[in-house]
Amino acid sequence: MTRSAPYQPLLLRILHSLSGTLAIAAIISGFLVYNTFDKRFGKLPIPKINPIQDIHGTVGLFFLLLLPVFVIYSFHAGSKRLLQSDSIQKLSEFNRPIWWVTLQRLANTLMLIASVLAVTSGRMMKEEWLPLGELDHIWYSCHLIAWLVMFVCLAIHLLMSAKVGGLTLLLSMISGKFRPEDNPKHWLNHLRSWWGNFPGNVKGEVSKLFENNLILGLIEVFIFLGIIAAFVLPLFFASGD
Ligand code: HEM
Ligand code: HEM
Repeated sequence: MTRSAPYQPLLLRILHSLSGTLAIAAIISGFLVYNTFDKRFGKLPIPKINPIQDIHGTVGLFFLLLLPVFVIYSFHAGSKRLLQSDSIQKLSEFNRPIWWVTLQRLANTLMLIASVLAVTSGRMMKEEWLPLGELDHIWYSCHLIAWLVMFVCLAIHLLMSAKVGGLTLLLSMISGKFRPEDNPKHWLNHLRSWWGNFPGNVKGEVSKLFENNLILGLIEVFIFLGIIAAFVLPLFFASGD
């Protein structure tokens, strides 16, 4: 029996590729910032890159701007790929295929939580701290921990996706082919009909999420509060401390 190749909706592929690339660029450029100014936990012999903070700040900011869109997609159109209401129970079915799928969904969800920790702490950082050798600010410690969490979660996310669907699943996420019904030219119509019943649709989506999957609904609220904090908190804490 031949297994049909996995198919990822085009919008997911676009949003996932953009945020995935920005997240990986933030992880790498973040490490380079650490490697230029900090080095307390080890270093790589890479030459100093002076404007690295600006580069990293720009990459991080673009990631933050895209994150709410990706989060809305994932929690609504893509909620089947995140934590399910029966996930905890499924974790008892050790080593069965559903166990691995459950771990993969957990890893997908963790990626979003880790992203929020990284962007919120990053927004509270000040450009002046590291060049002045001020390495003991609490937000910097949070941001370093967020980097570690992001790195570990990304490794788990990739390993679990590879375990569940192998290379074909990983490649399906970056493939450029799409089905006729998934053609972007239909998107405007979808959006128009969705917008036609705007408040009703939002209410329906929210109650569906909370009724079917309370934990996921709460995680979405947490993530959105985190994103709002990332935008708003720096305005109130100008000193960043
Ligand atoms: C070792 C790891 C990291 C270090 C040393 C680091 C360092 C910094 C520094 C110094 C800033 C302030 C830059 C500025 O204000 O111009 C910053 C901002 C930021 N970082 Fe990181 N970072 C790391 C990892 C990450 C990761 C993994 C992400 C996200 C995936 C991230 C997202 C951000 C964001 C969103 C900002 C705010 C940008 C802005 O408001 O303009 N960082 N980071
Ligand atoms: C090399 C990088 C990456 C690869 C190859 C990859 C691969 C994948 C694959 C194959 C899936 C689909 C799983 C399925 O259909 O069952 C997926 C889903 C997902 N990935 Fe990634 N990923 C990467 C990076 C990232 C990053 C950096 C983030 C977060 C910032 C992320 C967040 C997610 C989320 C939230 C989902 C679930 C989407 C939904 O609910 O529809 N991924 N990833």
